[in-house]
Amino acid sequence: MDREELHEEGRGSGMSRRGIILAGGAGTRLHPLTRAVSKQLLPVYDKPMIYYPLSTLLEAGIREILIITTPHEQVLFRRLLGSGEQWGVQLSYAKQAHPGGLAEALLIAEPFLEGHPSALILGDNIFYGDPLNSLLESASRRARGASIFGYYVSDPTAYGVAEFSADGRVIGLEEKPSTPRSNYAVTGLYFYDERASKLAATLKPSKRGELEITDLNRLYLERDELHLERLGRGIAWLDTGRPDHLLQAAAFIQTLQERQGLRVACPEEIAFRKGWIDRQQLRELAGSLRNTSYGDYLHALSERGDELVV
Ligand code: G1P
Repeated sequence: MDREELHEEGRGSGMSRRGIILAGGAGTRLHPLTRAVSKQLLPVYDKPMIYYPLSTLLEAGIREILIITTPHEQVLFRRLLGSGEQWGVQLSYAKQAHPGGLAEALLIAEPFLEGHPSALILGDNIFYGDPLNSLLESASRRARGASIFGYYVSDPTAYGVAEFSADGRVIGLEEKPSTPRSNYAVTGLYFYDERASKLAATLKPSKRGELEITDLNRLYLERDELHLERLGRGIAWLDTGRPDHLLQAAAFIQTLQERQGLRVACPEEIAFRKGWIDRQQLRELAGSLRNTSYGDYLHALSERGDELVV
């Protein structure tokens, strides 16, 4: 599918939402693991980490995606993911020269977005569960403002944290507070209307010298245009920023996949189920991964289709 056709799909409900995966950063908390290779290329059980956030965007129906990487590693991401054509989507690439903060992604992405609304996801965030897809779809349909997702965690101090009024409305956001005002961490998935890049351009670097995504979200909050969806207990939001968390995430994925015999975050499967590639294309993708359990899975899917799988 070419760019024009993808654009056609977006019309009708206004401009289609474009995705951004931020996969830059120095990954210092994982050194020496990430001294020579980007964290988002590390394995989480049987696939590279970036497959998980990529799949989250694909599940939300987003087919035009910009991948922001460090300058020297772009070549590796391109080798892994290519143009996206194999999955019926379009992947573009951009570089972040220095880790300048998450909100910088909206500035880097401005030429790619061309005034479209966006969904930004951090390349190390893993989401899993039901009813995630319906939550994503409803956030994606919201044309105005920003949507963020809150997740209850035991220790929110390492995250952006939401503060709520007695009637449950968000009244504040704080980045890595030492005394958090709730247990709701703000996850690394953000849906913005077309104003995000312009608003990000007005931000000033924080004390740690970065353009904070929390400051951008606060601009929407001040305008009363920030929506926070709470992700319930049935959803897993996993962090992969530390070696122990990385191992826990891998074990979680392995447990689910072995129990169900269904793969988590398999872009080929998502593309097939959404009708972006046909059975023959799936068969060819399976062939290119011959002699791996991943390839066997794709092959079986291309034979059966598993129409009964929800
Ligand atoms: C970033 C954001 C933080 C958010 C977190 C989610 O933190 O600044 O608000 O809760 O991602 O993963 P960082 O991973 O840069 O420490």
